[in-house]
Amino acid sequence: MSELITIKDLKIHYPIRSGFFNRVTDHVYAVDGVDFVIEKGKTYGLVGESGSGKSTTGKAILGLEKVTGGEIIYNGQDVTKRNVRKKMNYNKDVQMIFQDSMSSLNPKKRVLDIIAEPLRNFERLSDQEEKQRVKELLDIVGMPEDALYKYPHEFSGGQRQRLGVARAVATNPKLIVADEPVSALDLSVQAQVLNFMKRIQQQYDLSYLFISHDLGVVKHMCDNIAIMYKGRFVEIGSREDIYNDPRHIYTKRLLSAIPRIDVPNREAHKENRRHVEEEYIKHQKDYYDNTGRVYDLRKITDTHSVALLNEGAK
Ligand SMILES: Nc1ncnc2c1ncn2[C@@H]1O[C@H](COP(=O)(O)OP(=O)(O)OP(=O)(O)O)[C@@H](O)[C@H]1O
Ligand SMILES: [Mg+2]
Repeated sequence: MSELITIKDLKIHYPIRSGFFNRVTDHVYAVDGVDFVIEKGKTYGLVGESGSGKSTTGKAILGLEKVTGGEIIYNGQDVTKRNVRKKMNYNKDVQMIFQDSMSSLNPKKRVLDIIAEPLRNFERLSDQEEKQRVKELLDIVGMPEDALYKYPHEFSGGQRQRLGVARAVATNPKLIVADEPVSALDLSVQAQVLNFMKRIQQQYDLSYLFISHDLGVVKHMCDNIAIMYKGRFVEIGSREDIYNDPRHIYTKRLLSAIPRIDVPNREAHKENRRHVEEEYIKHQKDYYDNTGRVYDLRKITDTHSVALLNEGAK
């Protein structure tokens, strides 16, 4: 295993203020102690319901969110410290793709300027060199050269997502944080964008942090996966661990809730759902403490860890 970024005990708590004096009365524990490793050239998936802390984790890795505690280690240094990020040119190596390419691409700028922007921050290229580089990037994402002088609204959602990827790879990054990159797209377009993200990954030896609530998409894309609930990880493992041998009841619930239009045996699928729901009701305390908090992860194999009260729990 060759690690790119190691996240250690990451915490992001937001103060809640209230009352006449606007005092801090409580905190939102958006991310509350997560550990994981993003490997070189691999895709790490973050899955969980809305509000579980996925985007906050992604933003912390991008250096967009002040962390309350923990470390993010890149090339041996803790990049939660701003001066370290600057010194290491971290913002060149770590880029992002957004869910909503319409609002993330500046509508008043031409494609040339949009894609060249990150380049301008880190490299000194002549106009000619810059244009050449943007043309190459357009080619890589399968867009025609005449896109250069167009504006974002002149493209379809899928095409804009390609432009977003071209912009993200412009600086030759090592990691791209992709937060729900295809969830705003039609199913047929989703597959295209995902496949070409994979192609680019191989071409550039890129790593992705792939954030999604869609377990079907995650299965297609991710090598390693963390299942997130209320700012904590309930289970982490390889794709095979998570899909073939889920251990935490929350993971099982997510998996059993995937709509299976294509399953040959609908009855068996329904029966499995009933079984998981029964288990959820009966065995909650094996999985959550009496405040509803997720336990610490326990290692069950080299790749697979689960947050269980004790190893005997099902
Ligand atoms: N700036 C902020 N101030 C206070 N609370 C915040 C802030 N940003 C996020 N939160 C809270 O932190 C929690 C985690 O939010 P986050 O956006 O990371 O969830 P998410 O898993 O990405 O959800 P979604 O699937 O809906 O995108 C939520 O309860 C959210 O309301
Ligand atoms: Mg989010």
